[in-house]
Amino acid sequence: MLLGVNIDHVATLRNARGGVEPDVIKAAQIAEENGAKSITTHLREDRRHIKDEDVYSLIKILKTRLNLEMAMADDIREIALDIKPYSICLVPERRQEVTTEGGLDVTGQTEKVAEFIKPMLDAGIIVSLFIDPDENQVKASAKTGAQFIEMHTGCYSECFGYAEEEQEFQKLKKSAELAQSLGLKVNAGHGLNYENVHRMHEIKGLCELNIGHSIISRAVFTGLGQAVSDMKGLIE
Ligand code: PXP
Repeated sequence: MLLGVNIDHVATLRNARGGVEPDVIKAAQIAEENGAKSITTHLREDRRHIKDEDVYSLIKILKTRLNLEMAMADDIREIALDIKPYSICLVPERRQEVTTEGGLDVTGQTEKVAEFIKPMLDAGIIVSLFIDPDENQVKASAKTGAQFIEMHTGCYSECFGYAEEEQEFQKLKKSAELAQSLGLKVNAGHGLNYENVHRMHEIKGLCELNIGHSIISRAVFTGLGQAVSDMKGLIE
């Protein structure tokens, strides 16, 4: 399993003062130097954290891979086609949400998703769909042409240590197995931290975990390099 580090929170902090500190480019470089195998950023429609110039700079300096999270928005797709990240991850987006609160509904719009991602697939960009660990969402995802799903681990993470943990974990395990049997590769992320991440080892064949909040939070106390290498030690 590989570690992808989401650096959006570094941009949130920077934007709180409207200046240039902390530098998201430097954050990406430190994450890479300490074992991140990809850097994830979400270019939201309201640009509340990562801005266009950040992704244009990141694509030039990254030594690993840029994974661009994005909603089904034509203008963001234009940017993706222009910068050609290694991969994009299609996420649902609601302006009022604090973070990506649920998975993309692929069952209700399979054709629309397939059409939206086609130009990016044609351009050689790997496409992942961020979905809840649900049988129907997995089956629909397999019909779109996307090569990956990223399973939303938010419910598992919230239930970790409580009675519902096992039930939520089994949803992830079964969804991963179903996805793999349908030819999809599987990533996971959202809410994973230094305590709950170890159970991801029980899911065979997971490719990558995308983790942001817990790493950036730990970095406040330990520094980013240490926080990334601690997480890398737990997952690789
Ligand atoms: N994966 C996706 C698709 C996300 O939207 C997010 C949050 O931006 C993450 C992973 C990382 O979640 P967290 O910040 O809770 O680790």
